Amino acid sequence: MPGPHRIVFANEKGGTGKSTTAVHVAIGLAYQGAKVAAIDLDARQRTLHRYLENRAETERRRAIRLPGAQFAVFRGETIEALDQFSDEFAQDCDFLIYDTPGRDDAFARHVATRADTLVTPLNDSFVDFDLIGQVDAETFKVRKLSFYAELIWEARKQRAMSTIREGRRQMDWVVVRNRSGHVEMRNMRRLDQALTELSKRVGFRIAQGLSERVIYRELFPSGLTLLDKGQLGELGTSHLVARQELRELVAGLNLPMPGAREPELALAGGRA
Ligand SMILES: Nc1ncnc2c1ncn2[C@@H]1O[C@H](COP(=O)(O)OP(=O)(O)OP(=O)(O)O)[C@@H](O)[C@H]1O
Ligand SMILES: [Mg+2]
Repeated sequence: MPGPHRIVFANEKGGTGKSTTAVHVAIGLAYQGAKVAAIDLDARQRTLHRYLENRAETERRRAIRLPGAQFAVFRGETIEALDQFSDEFAQDCDFLIYDTPGRDDAFARHVATRADTLVTPLNDSFVDFDLIGQVDAETFKVRKLSFYAELIWEARKQRAMSTIREGRRQMDWVVVRNRSGHVEMRNMRRLDQALTELSKRVGFRIAQGLSERVIYRELFPSGLTLLDKGQLGELGTSHLVARQELRELVAGLNLPMPGAREPELALAGGRA
């Protein structure tokens, strides 16, 4: 029995959109009827956990129920404790999502090796690309792979072995472009070229993530997403495109959806 499909959001560089993307994917999957568990491995910042706490608080305040994920922060000290906690916490779930801290971290490395889908959000910037590989200053060609890329390479090799042993799938490594849309055309072409070249060298695929929008920062205190705004009838026309890009982000991850199931917590009547 292979257990839940594990999605790990990892990038050793800070502030690239791991937590924001993780929350949106978790909620997006819940809206499609999946049972989702989310574990925050960043016990210091706890962004994912706090987002989902804010969401629970909004549900209480407004007396509504929304599709969502069960969530927890892992505070244990050993890899064995993490594995045990994960197995118990995500029992019966379709997906187990991990948000990891933006630095080298033993737990993050461990869950990366066990990922079915590894998601690395990157901002459209050579500063972020540097995490995966160095680009030549004159030609913008990829010169050298980074330590992180080597690490993931190693993780995938280990994963391939457990794939055979445990009958799990191969790891799908997806680099998700986050906060796109704020760079000028020429820069964008160079970024495209470098990223495509990197993807061939390192073996990841590229998916479109969320574009740069203030709304993604503003939703945090309420813990809502644009899917909820739509559900609650509060979605302005200016955000229709954004909601669509959120749906496409989830679709682009090519995740194995469970058989048709109604969203667990369909809106149970808003506040009168
Ligand atoms: N698509 C977006 N549009 C606008 N702002 C964004 C977007 N994605 C992320 N942000 C903002 O960028 C900042 C960093 O995002 P986030 O916390 O998701 O990154 P992270 O990779 O989890 O960071 P850390 O490595 O510190 O955990 C936050 O202020 C967040 O609100
Ligand atoms: Mg984070």
